[in-house]
Amino acid sequence: MDQLQRTRSEMHRELNRQGEWPSASIGFTRRTFLHRSLVAGAAASAATYGWFPLINTIDVAHAQQSFKFAWISDTHLYPKNVNTRFVDKATRAVKEAQAMSPAADFLIFGGDLAQLGDPVELDLGNEILKEVKIKKVFIPGEHDWYLDMGKKWESLFGKQPWAFDHKGVRFVGLDTVSRGPDYWTAKKMTPQQRMGHMATLDGSVAGAWAGVGRDQLEWLNRTLSGWGKDKPVIIFTHNPLYEYYPPWNFWVRDWREVHEVLKPFSNVTNIHGHTHQVLYNEIGKVRSIGMLATSWPWPYAPEGVPALTTPMVRADPGDHFDGVGWAKLTAGGPKVENEYVMWRKDIFAEAAVDSGTGDNVNQILTPRIADREWPYYGAHK
Ligand SMILES: [Fe+2]
Ligand SMILES: [Fe+2]
Repeated sequence: MDQLQRTRSEMHRELNRQGEWPSASIGFTRRTFLHRSLVAGAAASAATYGWFPLINTIDVAHAQQSFKFAWISDTHLYPKNVNTRFVDKATRAVKEAQAMSPAADFLIFGGDLAQLGDPVELDLGNEILKEVKIKKVFIPGEHDWYLDMGKKWESLFGKQPWAFDHKGVRFVGLDTVSRGPDYWTAKKMTPQQRMGHMATLDGSVAGAWAGVGRDQLEWLNRTLSGWGKDKPVIIFTHNPLYEYYPPWNFWVRDWREVHEVLKPFSNVTNIHGHTHQVLYNEIGKVRSIGMLATSWPWPYAPEGVPALTTPMVRADPGDHFDGVGWAKLTAGGPKVENEYVMWRKDIFAEAAVDSGTGDNVNQILTPRIADREWPYYGAHK
């Protein structure tokens, strides 16, 4: 049995114990809506772009009343004089979130506001986000952090981690990006070089940088200790809280410890950015939902895409508004609904297999050379 299989069977033993599954009051259904109602409408802008919402419905018991919140992340802003495309898309997402009706109770920005951690980029993002007048909460992405190790980001958006209760739901924000191993000092890297390695998908130099860390695990344990075991918890993180694909840091390296802390709770939803794609997974009693980026869609990883993921419809490379967007979530009543607001100029494919997964006829994905250099890679074979 290889290392990955050992890890997975250990995880199943620990988390999927006999008689343990999400509370019976929670049911997961997946509804996919393909509609062009706005395209058919008169508004020119809607007719230009169309909408492609995908709605996941998750029942969450005990929320006191229904409310909405919005998620925007992965804007990857460059300075305006370098690139305005990402600025345009971030601006659009912010305007749409602000225009939600009924209004969202708050906006969560899920990290990677900047592309290279440049103070100019972070200030630009802060300005764009000022359009949103409702409450805003923030968690950082690695692109925000590794130029000055989070100084500018924290001066604008505050410290991590944090928690607040809202209408019967405990919301938690964790920092999964700042605990990368020191790959720069011995190599005498400049801050720009350090940041440059963080800005690559493969991370073969930066290594297993994504993690929660002992102090935050203890904080999470304390923060949840007084919370009812069956009451809803929604945890925001930049990276997914499970092992999706380590070579791209589509995980946190201490995900098993995280799940150890969460194990007593039957109603936990993790909402994350970083993967820039439609993504859903369940581990034990914890559900994870991956959010769209406004900047660009990442492909699915060559392996490890969870079986419950709705395949991502192939993006048109000629349309930079395609395959990206933001999300509206409704919590409360008996449910949380997650609606991906995906911008599309046109709908090219309606088949579920038009994606990087489950489509062996049209796409064969092979790991790239840089992925094979990842020290953990052998564990996946
Ligand atoms: Fe990102
Ligand atoms: Fe990221």
